Amino acid sequence: MKLYEKYRPKSFDQVIGQSAAVAGIRYVLNRGWGGKAWFIHGPSGAGKTTLARIIAAHGADDWFIEELPMARDISIADLRVMRASMALYATGKGGRAFIINEAHGMRRDVLEGLLTLLEEMPDSACLIFTTTSAGKDRLFDDCEDAGPLLSRCINVELRTLGLAESFGAECQRIAIAENLDGGHDLAAYVALVQSCKLNMRAALQRIEQGAMLEAPAPVMPRAACLAQPEPKAVAAPKVKQWWQQEQSPLLRKAV
Ligand SMILES: Nc1ncnc2c1ncn2[C@@H]1O[C@H](COP(=O)(O)OP(=O)(O)OP(=O)(O)O)[C@@H](O)[C@H]1O
Ligand SMILES: [Mg+2]
Repeated sequence: MKLYEKYRPKSFDQVIGQSAAVAGIRYVLNRGWGGKAWFIHGPSGAGKTTLARIIAAHGADDWFIEELPMARDISIADLRVMRASMALYATGKGGRAFIINEAHGMRRDVLEGLLTLLEEMPDSACLIFTTTSAGKDRLFDDCEDAGPLLSRCINVELRTLGLAESFGAECQRIAIAENLDGGHDLAAYVALVQSCKLNMRAALQRIEQGAMLEAPAPVMPRAACLAQPEPKAVAAPKVKQWWQQEQSPLLRKAV
Protein backbone atom coordinates (compact mmCIF):
# COMPACT_ATOMS: atom_id res chain seq x y z
CA MET A 1 0.00 0.00 0.00
CA LYS A 2 1.25 3.45 -0.87
CA LEU A 3 2.36 5.60 2.05
CA TYR A 4 -0.21 8.27 1.27
CA GLU A 5 -3.00 5.66 1.46
CA LYS A 6 -1.60 4.05 4.60
CA TYR A 7 -1.45 7.40 6.39
CA ARG A 8 -4.65 8.88 4.96
CA PRO A 9 -6.56 10.37 7.95
CA LYS A 10 -9.57 8.27 8.93
CA SER A 11 -11.14 10.83 11.25
CA PHE A 12 -11.51 14.61 11.38
CA ASP A 13 -9.05 14.79 14.28
CA GLN A 14 -6.28 13.37 12.12
CA VAL A 15 -6.75 15.94 9.34
CA ILE A 16 -3.97 18.50 9.52
CA GLY A 17 -4.43 22.22 9.14
CA GLN A 18 -8.00 22.44 7.85
CA SER A 19 -9.62 23.47 11.11
CA ALA A 20 -12.07 26.00 9.59
CA ALA A 21 -13.27 23.51 6.97
CA VAL A 22 -13.52 20.69 9.51
CA ALA A 23 -15.45 22.86 11.98
CA GLY A 24 -17.96 23.73 9.24
CA ILE A 25 -18.37 20.09 8.20
CA ARG A 26 -18.87 18.98 11.82
CA TYR A 27 -21.50 21.63 12.32
CA VAL A 28 -23.48 20.46 9.28
CA LEU A 29 -23.10 16.78 10.15
CA ASN A 30 -24.41 17.39 13.65
CA ARG A 31 -27.64 18.50 12.03
CA GLY A 32 -27.90 15.31 9.95
CA TRP A 33 -25.95 13.41 7.33
CA GLY A 34 -28.33 12.35 4.58
CA GLY A 35 -29.92 14.12 1.62
CA LYS A 36 -26.98 16.49 1.24
CA ALA A 37 -24.50 17.35 -1.48
CA TRP A 38 -21.04 18.69 -0.73
CA PHE A 39 -18.61 20.56 -2.91
CA ILE A 40 -15.02 20.37 -1.63
CA HIS A 41 -12.38 22.37 -3.45
CA GLY A 42 -8.78 23.40 -2.81
CA PRO A 43 -5.22 22.71 -3.94
CA SER A 44 -4.09 19.23 -4.93
CA GLY A 45 -2.97 17.03 -2.05
CA ALA A 46 -4.64 19.19 0.61
CA GLY A 47 -7.13 16.56 1.79
CA LYS A 48 -10.23 16.84 -0.42
CA THR A 49 -10.74 13.13 -1.16
CA THR A 50 -9.69 12.38 2.42
CA LEU A 51 -12.42 14.63 3.83
CA ALA A 52 -14.94 13.30 1.28
CA ARG A 53 -14.28 9.76 2.52
CA ILE A 54 -14.59 10.79 6.17
CA ILE A 55 -17.91 12.54 5.47
CA ALA A 56 -19.12 9.51 3.52
CA ALA A 57 -18.09 7.12 6.30
CA HIS A 58 -20.14 9.14 8.76
CA GLY A 59 -23.37 7.75 7.36
CA ALA A 60 -22.41 4.82 5.15
CA ASP A 61 -20.44 1.62 5.60
CA ASP A 62 -17.48 0.98 3.28
CA TRP A 63 -19.58 -1.30 1.05
CA PHE A 64 -21.98 1.52 0.36
CA ILE A 65 -19.47 4.23 -0.50
CA GLU A 66 -18.88 4.50 -4.19
CA GLU A 67 -16.20 6.61 -5.88
CA LEU A 68 -17.26 7.46 -9.39
CA PRO A 69 -14.86 8.13 -12.26
CA MET A 70 -13.87 11.68 -13.12
CA ALA A 71 -16.97 13.83 -13.73
CA ARG A 72 -16.15 14.18 -17.42
CA ASP A 73 -16.48 10.40 -17.83
CA ILE A 74 -19.89 10.17 -16.16
CA SER A 75 -22.77 9.38 -18.49
CA ILE A 76 -26.52 9.71 -18.17
CA ALA A 77 -26.64 5.92 -17.82
CA ASP A 78 -24.35 6.20 -14.74
CA LEU A 79 -26.76 8.71 -13.23
CA ARG A 80 -29.64 6.28 -13.75
CA VAL A 81 -27.69 3.56 -11.92
CA MET A 82 -26.90 6.04 -9.16
CA ARG A 83 -30.52 7.05 -8.76
CA ALA A 84 -31.62 3.39 -8.65
CA SER A 85 -29.01 2.46 -6.04
CA MET A 86 -29.86 5.50 -3.88
CA ALA A 87 -33.33 4.06 -3.47
CA LEU A 88 -32.01 0.71 -2.23
CA TYR A 89 -31.72 -0.19 1.42
CA ALA A 90 -28.17 -0.22 2.86
CA THR A 91 -27.13 -2.26 5.86
CA GLY A 92 -24.98 -1.00 8.74
CA LYS A 93 -25.15 2.77 9.12
CA GLY A 94 -27.95 2.72 6.57
CA GLY A 95 -26.72 5.33 4.10
CA ARG A 96 -25.17 5.32 0.63
CA ALA A 97 -22.54 7.83 -0.40
CA PHE A 98 -21.25 8.78 -3.85
CA ILE A 99 -17.95 10.62 -4.29
CA ILE A 100 -17.24 12.33 -7.58
CA ASN A 101 -13.59 13.36 -7.68
CA GLU A 102 -12.31 15.83 -10.28
CA ALA A 103 -15.77 17.29 -10.63
CA HIS A 104 -14.68 19.70 -13.37
CA GLY A 105 -15.27 19.17 -17.08
CA MET A 106 -18.82 17.84 -16.57
CA ARG A 107 -21.02 17.44 -19.64
CA ARG A 108 -24.06 19.69 -19.86
CA ASP A 109 -26.58 16.80 -20.01
CA VAL A 110 -24.91 15.18 -16.97
CA LEU A 111 -25.09 18.46 -15.07
CA GLU A 112 -28.80 18.73 -15.81
CA GLY A 113 -29.33 15.13 -14.72
CA LEU A 114 -27.39 15.78 -11.52
CA LEU A 115 -29.46 18.84 -10.68
CA THR A 116 -32.62 16.73 -10.90
CA LEU A 117 -30.98 13.98 -8.88
CA LEU A 118 -30.03 16.44 -6.13
CA GLU A 119 -33.60 17.67 -5.92
CA GLU A 120 -34.87 14.14 -5.39
CA MET A 121 -32.10 12.77 -3.23
CA PRO A 122 -33.40 10.60 -0.40
CA ASP A 123 -32.34 11.18 3.21
CA SER A 124 -30.35 7.96 3.10
CA ALA A 125 -27.95 9.26 0.42
CA CYS A 126 -25.14 11.77 0.22
CA LEU A 127 -23.21 13.10 -2.76
CA ILE A 128 -19.75 14.63 -2.53
CA PHE A 129 -17.92 16.47 -5.32
CA THR A 130 -14.24 17.32 -5.09
CA THR A 131 -12.10 19.38 -7.41
CA THR A 132 -9.01 21.54 -7.32
CA SER A 133 -9.40 25.30 -7.02
CA ALA A 134 -8.48 25.62 -10.69
CA GLY A 135 -11.08 22.96 -11.52
CA LYS A 136 -13.75 24.97 -9.75
CA ASP A 137 -13.39 27.75 -12.30
CA ARG A 138 -13.90 25.41 -15.25
CA LEU A 139 -16.53 23.08 -13.87
CA PHE A 140 -18.16 22.61 -17.21
CA ASP A 141 -16.46 22.19 -20.54
CA ASP A 142 -18.70 24.69 -22.28
CA CYS A 143 -18.23 27.36 -19.56
CA GLU A 144 -21.80 27.06 -18.33
CA ASP A 145 -22.61 28.90 -15.10
CA ALA A 146 -21.73 26.63 -12.18
CA GLY A 147 -24.20 28.46 -9.91
CA PRO A 148 -27.14 26.02 -10.16
CA LEU A 149 -24.96 23.12 -9.00
CA LEU A 150 -22.91 25.03 -6.42
CA SER A 151 -25.98 26.60 -4.85
CA ARG A 152 -27.34 23.11 -4.12
CA CYS A 153 -24.11 22.01 -2.42
CA ILE A 154 -22.46 22.71 0.91
CA ASN A 155 -19.30 24.55 0.00
CA VAL A 156 -16.03 23.47 1.68
CA GLU A 157 -12.82 25.26 0.84
CA LEU A 158 -9.43 23.84 1.76
CA ARG A 159 -6.30 25.99 1.94
CA THR A 160 -2.66 25.18 2.25
CA LEU A 161 -1.33 28.68 2.95
CA GLY A 162 0.87 28.56 6.05
CA LEU A 163 0.73 24.76 6.35
CA ALA A 164 4.30 23.98 5.27
CA GLU A 165 5.45 23.43 8.84
CA SER A 166 2.56 21.19 9.97
CA PHE A 167 2.71 19.17 6.73
CA GLY A 168 6.50 18.95 7.13
CA ALA A 169 6.17 17.69 10.71
CA GLU A 170 3.69 15.03 9.61
CA CYS A 171 6.00 13.94 6.78
CA GLN A 172 8.88 13.70 9.26
CA ARG A 173 6.77 11.61 11.65
CA ILE A 174 5.79 9.22 8.84
CA ALA A 175 9.33 8.98 7.42
CA ILE A 176 10.70 8.09 10.88
CA ALA A 177 7.93 5.52 11.49
CA GLU A 178 8.69 3.90 8.13
CA ASN A 179 12.49 3.95 8.52
CA LEU A 180 12.72 6.28 5.56
CA ASP A 181 14.47 9.09 7.43
CA GLY A 182 18.21 9.61 7.25
CA GLY A 183 18.25 11.93 10.30
CA HIS A 184 16.98 15.14 8.73
CA ASP A 185 15.61 17.97 10.84
CA LEU A 186 12.16 19.52 10.51
CA ALA A 187 13.51 22.28 8.25
CA ALA A 188 14.50 19.67 5.65
CA TYR A 189 10.95 18.25 5.64
CA VAL A 190 9.44 21.71 5.41
CA ALA A 191 11.70 22.34 2.41
CA LEU A 192 10.55 19.06 0.86
CA VAL A 193 6.89 19.97 1.32
CA GLN A 194 7.55 23.42 -0.15
CA SER A 195 9.29 21.90 -3.15
CA CYS A 196 6.12 19.80 -3.65
CA LYS A 197 3.99 22.98 -3.60
CA LEU A 198 2.42 21.85 -0.29
CA ASN A 199 0.96 18.74 -1.91
CA MET A 200 1.13 16.15 0.89
CA ARG A 201 0.64 13.22 -1.47
CA ALA A 202 3.57 14.34 -3.62
CA ALA A 203 5.78 14.80 -0.52
CA LEU A 204 4.90 11.33 0.79
CA GLN A 205 5.64 9.85 -2.64
CA ARG A 206 9.09 11.50 -2.59
CA ILE A 207 9.74 10.08 0.90
CA GLU A 208 8.66 6.63 -0.29
CA GLN A 209 11.14 6.93 -3.14
CA GLY A 210 13.92 7.49 -0.60
CA ALA A 211 14.31 11.26 -0.92
CA MET A 212 15.05 11.62 2.83
CA LEU A 213 17.08 8.45 3.33
CA GLU A 214 20.48 9.95 2.72
CA ALA A 215 21.97 11.40 5.90
CA PRO A 216 22.17 15.20 5.88
CA ALA A 217 25.54 16.70 5.01
CA PRO A 218 27.57 17.24 8.21
CA VAL A 219 27.42 20.82 9.41
CA MET A 220 30.35 22.17 11.46
CA PRO A 221 29.11 23.53 14.80
CA ARG A 222 29.38 27.31 15.15
CA ALA A 223 31.95 27.06 17.97
CA ALA A 224 34.15 24.88 15.81
CA CYS A 225 33.80 27.35 12.96
CA LEU A 226 34.94 30.19 15.24
CA ALA A 227 37.87 28.13 16.53
CA GLN A 228 39.23 27.74 13.01
CA PRO A 229 42.37 29.92 12.46
CA GLU A 230 41.75 32.85 10.20
CA PRO A 231 43.19 32.05 6.79
CA LYS A 232 46.42 34.01 6.31
CA ALA A 233 46.30 36.70 3.73
CA VAL A 234 48.51 35.67 0.84
CA ALA A 235 50.69 38.55 -0.25
CA ALA A 236 50.64 39.29 -3.93
CA PRO A 237 53.99 38.46 -5.53
CA LYS A 238 56.09 41.56 -5.96
CA VAL A 239 56.68 42.12 -9.60
CA LYS A 240 58.76 45.08 -10.65
CA GLN A 241 57.11 47.22 -13.27
CA TRP A 242 59.21 47.97 -16.32
CA TRP A 243 59.95 51.49 -15.09
CA GLN A 244 61.21 50.10 -11.81
CA GLN A 245 63.52 47.68 -13.46
CA GLU A 246 67.15 48.67 -13.56
CA GLN A 247 67.27 48.10 -17.22
CA SER A 248 63.95 49.48 -18.33
CA PRO A 249 63.36 49.16 -22.07
CA LEU A 250 62.96 52.99 -22.28
CA LEU A 251 66.21 53.65 -20.44
CA ARG A 252 67.92 51.09 -22.58
CA LYS A 253 66.52 52.87 -25.65
CA ALA A 254 67.68 56.25 -24.34
CA VAL A 255 71.15 54.88 -23.79
N1 LIG B 1 -4.85 17.83 5.58
C1 LIG B 1 -4.21 16.65 5.57
N2 LIG B 1 -3.88 16.04 6.72
C2 LIG B 1 -3.21 14.88 6.73
N3 LIG B 1 -2.84 14.22 5.61
C3 LIG B 1 -3.14 14.78 4.43
C4 LIG B 1 -3.84 16.00 4.35
N4 LIG B 1 -4.00 16.31 3.07
C5 LIG B 1 -3.45 15.36 2.35
N5 LIG B 1 -2.92 14.42 3.17
C6 LIG B 1 -2.17 13.24 2.73
O1 LIG B 1 -2.10 13.29 1.30
C7 LIG B 1 -2.81 12.21 0.72
C8 LIG B 1 -3.61 12.73 -0.46
O2 LIG B 1 -4.68 13.54 0.01
P1 LIG B 1 -6.05 13.67 -0.79
O3 LIG B 1 -6.24 12.49 -1.69
O4 LIG B 1 -7.12 13.91 0.21
O5 LIG B 1 -5.74 14.95 -1.63
P2 LIG B 1 -6.70 15.73 -2.63
O6 LIG B 1 -6.89 17.10 -2.08
O7 LIG B 1 -7.92 14.93 -2.92
O8 LIG B 1 -5.75 15.83 -3.91
P3 LIG B 1 -6.13 15.79 -5.48
O9 LIG B 1 -6.70 17.14 -5.85
O10 LIG B 1 -4.81 15.60 -6.16
O11 LIG B 1 -7.09 14.67 -5.72
C9 LIG B 1 -3.67 11.63 1.83
O12 LIG B 1 -3.86 10.26 1.67
C10 LIG B 1 -2.85 11.92 3.08
O13 LIG B 1 -1.85 10.95 3.23
MG1 LIG C 1 -8.61 13.86 -4.61
